[in-house]
Amino acid sequence: MPSMAQREFRSSVQNSKPNPKFPTVSHFSMRQKIAEHRRSLPIATVEKRLIEEVRKNDILIVVGETGSGKTTQLPQFLYNAGFCREGKMVGITQPRRIAAVTVAKRVAEECEVELGQKVGYSIRFDDTTSNLTRLKYMTDGLLLREALLDPHLSRYSVIIVDEAHDRSVHTDVLLALLKKIQRTRSKPTGEKTEIGNLALEVQTNTRDENVPQQNGVSRGCQGRKLSPLKLIIMSASLDARVFSEYFGGAKAVHVQGRQFPVDILYTVHPESDYIDAALVTIFQIHLEEKPGDILVFLTGQDEIESVERLVQERLQHLPEDKRKLLPVPIFSALPSEQQMKAFAPAPTGFRKVILATNIAETSITIPGIRYVIDPGFVKARSYDPRKGMESLDVVPASKAQTLQRRYGWKKLGVLPPIICAFWFIFGFYFSGRAGREVPGKCFRLYPEREFEKLEDSTKPEIKRCNLSNIILQLKALGIDDIVGFDFIDRPSSGAIVKALAELHALGALTDDGKLEDPAGYQMSRLPLEPIYSKALILANQYNCLEEMLITVAVLTVESIFYDPREKREEARTAKNHFASVEGDHLTYLSVYRESDEFLEKKKVAGSGNNIDKIMKKWCKENFVNSRSLKHARDIYRQIREHVEQMGFNVSSCGNDMLEFRRCLAASFFLKAALRQLDGTYRAMESGEVVHIHPTSVLFRAKPECVIFDELMQTSKKYIKNLTRIDPLWLTELAPHHYKTAE
Ligand code: CDP
Ligand code: MG
Repeated sequence: MPSMAQREFRSSVQNSKPNPKFPTVSHFSMRQKIAEHRRSLPIATVEKRLIEEVRKNDILIVVGETGSGKTTQLPQFLYNAGFCREGKMVGITQPRRIAAVTVAKRVAEECEVELGQKVGYSIRFDDTTSNLTRLKYMTDGLLLREALLDPHLSRYSVIIVDEAHDRSVHTDVLLALLKKIQRTRSKPTGEKTEIGNLALEVQTNTRDENVPQQNGVSRGCQGRKLSPLKLIIMSASLDARVFSEYFGGAKAVHVQGRQFPVDILYTVHPESDYIDAALVTIFQIHLEEKPGDILVFLTGQDEIESVERLVQERLQHLPEDKRKLLPVPIFSALPSEQQMKAFAPAPTGFRKVILATNIAETSITIPGIRYVIDPGFVKARSYDPRKGMESLDVVPASKAQTLQRRYGWKKLGVLPPIICAFWFIFGFYFSGRAGREVPGKCFRLYPEREFEKLEDSTKPEIKRCNLSNIILQLKALGIDDIVGFDFIDRPSSGAIVKALAELHALGALTDDGKLEDPAGYQMSRLPLEPIYSKALILANQYNCLEEMLITVAVLTVESIFYDPREKREEARTAKNHFASVEGDHLTYLSVYRESDEFLEKKKVAGSGNNIDKIMKKWCKENFVNSRSLKHARDIYRQIREHVEQMGFNVSSCGNDMLEFRRCLAASFFLKAALRQLDGTYRAMESGEVVHIHPTSVLFRAKPECVIFDELMQTSKKYIKNLTRIDPLWLTELAPHHYKTAE
């Protein structure tokens, strides 16, 4: 077994680099503050040694606690050490969009440049990079897409795969691909090598070339002279061994963290309702504890929005002077500019309570947090390839996640005595560095004995998701042997076979598993699930691309309707106004269109400046989720750009909804269900007995045959987002699938 050499770096001497420029007076204190902050980070003292290690090792694993400065500082160290000479870039990948955005903004600020110059980010549907960009933060999925157009990622001298412990499916595939690319790029001059089946000639000397950019993706580079690629794998938790072994015994170094003293508090008894327990704890902290913001880990958008509402409501019962508590949601489906609100300081005198999903576990650092509330749950996706069914279940978080959550804060005060009987102190865990740091508190909403029962770490996503999208991308990269591909953790062969069959049925792959031309290529280039890409390609032929773009945009966001528990009846009446007898897709279309018409009317009436407020009011009155609608509009605009670049002409079928429904049937034929005598449905592909989800407009109508968007197991097996179709359309529009099945 390969050995893993681990070296510990310790903070010792402060690294104080003189600032070469003379700051203007207005910037002075800000710049000084930033410089001081950078110098105070644990990683600052080991800059030289880290750079030495990078020079000596082509693959380096860097482990360090959250907040030690890995993500923001290491790329700057590399820049200063000359890794961006000759137009080369350092690429830093993140599993989450928000981390790429916030960290790039922070680093641009630290470098005193505008975002998009030396420092930029690129995420799906949002690219701020330019030809000047040298430190590029991006999602791991985006770098995979870049590899489609530049198979050797030749513009990068170093790629840092950050948050590798997260083990997102994109991270796992990226690691495998980078391993391959690195080998290719370190081959001696002139030797023929292969990435997938793309044979390329490799030369070792570099040249300064600015490759034109399109949609954040560098263009192809065949024939380009290649230089070796450095890989850095960064991880917050101590599971470096798995990465080291995967990379043949790669060296791992540990950056000493800045570990704040932290009190972990457990409830004495189990909590039956963790939402209620979280609310009680929020108010308990607000009323009894010293100033400092609160971070609460919840499982998803619905839960966050409901807690947000409940906090607002309960505040109304407090005396006026105790109401200075500001709930701020943050979850991945939230549009970026709204996510950024979590980072803004609370208004004077207010305490912020950040309601977050696990995106706040390791990838982002929100300043000012002093209290963490951890109910100990997470929403986890799992996938059963045999049934083609996804489940989204709320399950206990793993030990690794739980351990990360306690580090929610960075600015700390003085440890107050514990006065509350509801909690007992479990431990005083870490001692901080002298003088400057003082503790925070983490409230775990379960008894201590439950902690030991948690799983050590979360199962890699690649083992619990539908693989069709990732396999399509691998095929587009020229990797045909998916089963033999060098994954860090191999997905099950059942999941691979299922995904290949699905891609074949959608017309993305030929009978012998190669990418179909042009459909497969087109589908691999759209940043969407293959079935949505297929729907857009077909809609272009059915002249209903406009309608399909709206539909796909709405399906991509979380629920477009706002359905508060306490106003169920009013919400239902409002929804009925938009409801179509043909199903949910047409209902979403009418929400989108009505909001569009309303917007236009208001613009014409000269309400341009107030449009956000007016739109929010319209949404509230119509029980439409304004955040989701805004997000859907953004996505619509961006996918539209993509299809237009592919040469599609965006036309509308007007009121001819028959054509649109036929197009839905032709695209979603793998997701069709037939009503049975007892009123349940049978999913035609898997044979599963399923139920129409109560949120569907077809819940009561129960048409004979439907296509659906999602098959989910929660309390029952539900199908969601449905449209009524004629069962005969299936054999007519998807004969390759339905005739052979007879
Ligand atoms: O990657 P790692 O968790 O090691 O740390 P980092 O993200 O580089 O953050 C280092 C420090 O920079 C944090 O402790 C924060 O104090 C600060 N930071 C910030 O103020 N704003 C950000 N958007 C990111 C980091
Ligand atoms: Mg980080």
